Amino acid sequence: MSELTIAVAKGRLQAATLERLGRVGIHADEESLASRRLWAGDREGRYRFIFVKPVDVPVYVEHGIADCGVVGRDVLLESEADLLQPLDLQLGRCRVVLASHKPELLSNGFGMLRVATKYPRITAQYFGARGIPVEIIELAGSVELAPVLGLSDCIVDLVETGRTLDENGLRVIEVILESTARLVVNRASFQLKAERVSQLIKALGESAKEES
Ligand code: PRP
Repeated sequence: MSELTIAVAKGRLQAATLERLGRVGIHADEESLASRRLWAGDREGRYRFIFVKPVDVPVYVEHGIADCGVVGRDVLLESEADLLQPLDLQLGRCRVVLASHKPELLSNGFGMLRVATKYPRITAQYFGARGIPVEIIELAGSVELAPVLGLSDCIVDLVETGRTLDENGLRVIEVILESTARLVVNRASFQLKAERVSQLIKALGESAKEES
């Protein structure tokens, strides 16, 4: 039986993803996990895991290098990849919010705002839907610094505990969307490895139900 390759988002979702896979009997090899190697097998040689940046999960899955992947809805909304999204895993719950250190700036009819974000699509859609003209300043991380140092008026960013916002003097103005981790599947793998993929979806689906 051929291996099923699963792309796992490194960072905040990695531990929870491996824990969830472990719950359905899919265990990544401990030795590989303890090393700096970016892939691992499972004990039975049925699965291979690759560890990639969240934004790269849709890329690996769309190109069929990985059959499946686990990544946040926030990342999927930014991606243009053509993927199947059969399952909300009900883990890694967080929010994408509009936040600022000067909320009054935003209640003055907005005007031309400078918005720093690593979510340019979500940001453009959010302000576009409200007819508010904005300059989007795209950053790769540490987005909370931008308004504090005067690079932007506000940010659109991910909030999990709220600690980063808080400790940088920013407040949530509006929750734009809720995000949880999703199982994504390559379209060809869904057909060609139908049995393996449906078993995985079923097992993870039952496990996600226990969570919700
Ligand atoms: C994310 C996000 C916030 C922080 C929010 O950044 O962009 O900065 O986590 O988490 P909190 O609400 O629990 O404080 P990440 O850790 O992914 O790093 P980055 O700044 O490099 O994007």
